[in-house]
Amino acid sequence: FEIQWDASAADKGGWSSFMAKEISEEPDAVANTIRGRVEGGQVVIPELAGLDELFLDINRIVIIACGTAAYAGTVGTYAIERWAGIPVTVELSHEFRYRDPVIDARTLVISVSQSGETMDTLMAVRFASESGAKTLSICNTQGATIARESDAVVYTHAGPEVAVASTKAFTAQITALYLFGLHLARVRGTQTPQFLASQVEELQAVPDKIASILGASEKIAQLAHWMADSRAVLFLGRHVGYPIALEGALKLKELAYIHAEGFAGGELKHGPIALIEPGQPVFVVVPSPRGSAILHPKVISTIEEIRARGARVIAIAEQGDAAVLPSADEVIPIPLAGPLFEPLLAVIPLHIFAMELATAKGLDVDQPRNLAKSVTVE
Ligand code: AGP
Repeated sequence: FEIQWDASAADKGGWSSFMAKEISEEPDAVANTIRGRVEGGQVVIPELAGLDELFLDINRIVIIACGTAAYAGTVGTYAIERWAGIPVTVELSHEFRYRDPVIDARTLVISVSQSGETMDTLMAVRFASESGAKTLSICNTQGATIARESDAVVYTHAGPEVAVASTKAFTAQITALYLFGLHLARVRGTQTPQFLASQVEELQAVPDKIASILGASEKIAQLAHWMADSRAVLFLGRHVGYPIALEGALKLKELAYIHAEGFAGGELKHGPIALIEPGQPVFVVVPSPRGSAILHPKVISTIEEIRARGARVIAIAEQGDAAVLPSADEVIPIPLAGPLFEPLLAVIPLHIFAMELATAKGLDVDQPRNLAKSVTVE
């Protein structure tokens, strides 16, 4: 990192900000959330013991959350639906409750909340319970209100997150949702034990891969300094890369007070491409070429389209993805991983970028203006 160790800041573990400390803890947040929940190569979440009948009975899942937690929930929808073969949607808590959703005793409403005190999400959980749905809380704070009021809880073990902008809790939330998806698929028998074991191995390999990204972040810091005076930054992603584009944009808004917008890559030609002008910085989260043989070339052609209009493209792409090299201005490589596991890696450069750019602007990365760590009002 650019940021120097500050020996006097004992409460930040020597880091110059809680944000830098907590980004450095993202590998442990993932590892600690996994710990104790894998038996014989399969996910067995102790907190969910005795709920197999419930998990066999449900016929849909709705994930509710706000802000960064909602983006973690969005990543979770892809994996849980893929593994457990059950319809999964994600809703903003403050919209869900006023939408008259059709939910019943066979609906599982999963709330995702770092603090477990977000009023929008708490009120939505109460609404879901009153509507007869079962509720599960993914929470990072032991004994929080949302956890206490849910039928079941799967805690993330990211440790206390002090910086207002969430980083390690985000990666821990995705981890907990993935663990839940693999637990659910095992109970419902929708995948072979061999396939599930392969996914567990992918998840267990994530902490070291995040650590390797953290160890090679100089280029991201340099990019941030180059872009410190940007007026607007766009973020594009497809499939599980789409919520990562949304998260990257939110981090930049929260920390550097720069207008930033995340888009689904396929949405560009339906309007947003009008925003592209010479010099416009665009981050593109590129899917693995080993994943979808359809999406990868589509994203490469999107990069070519926006560069033809003068965009400055920073691609976050799998190590060795040769197709991206000739088309992007900058490439930030991430380690190879199964397509569903890329979000846990692709988000790390975006967390570092937002922090470094805010630091370059002399802003307080731990306490951004106008924000509170837990929004306990509706
Ligand atoms: C995260 O960077 C934001 N500070 C904010 O969007 C946060 O994720 C949201 O308010 C939800 O908080 P919670 O996870 O504590 O419910």
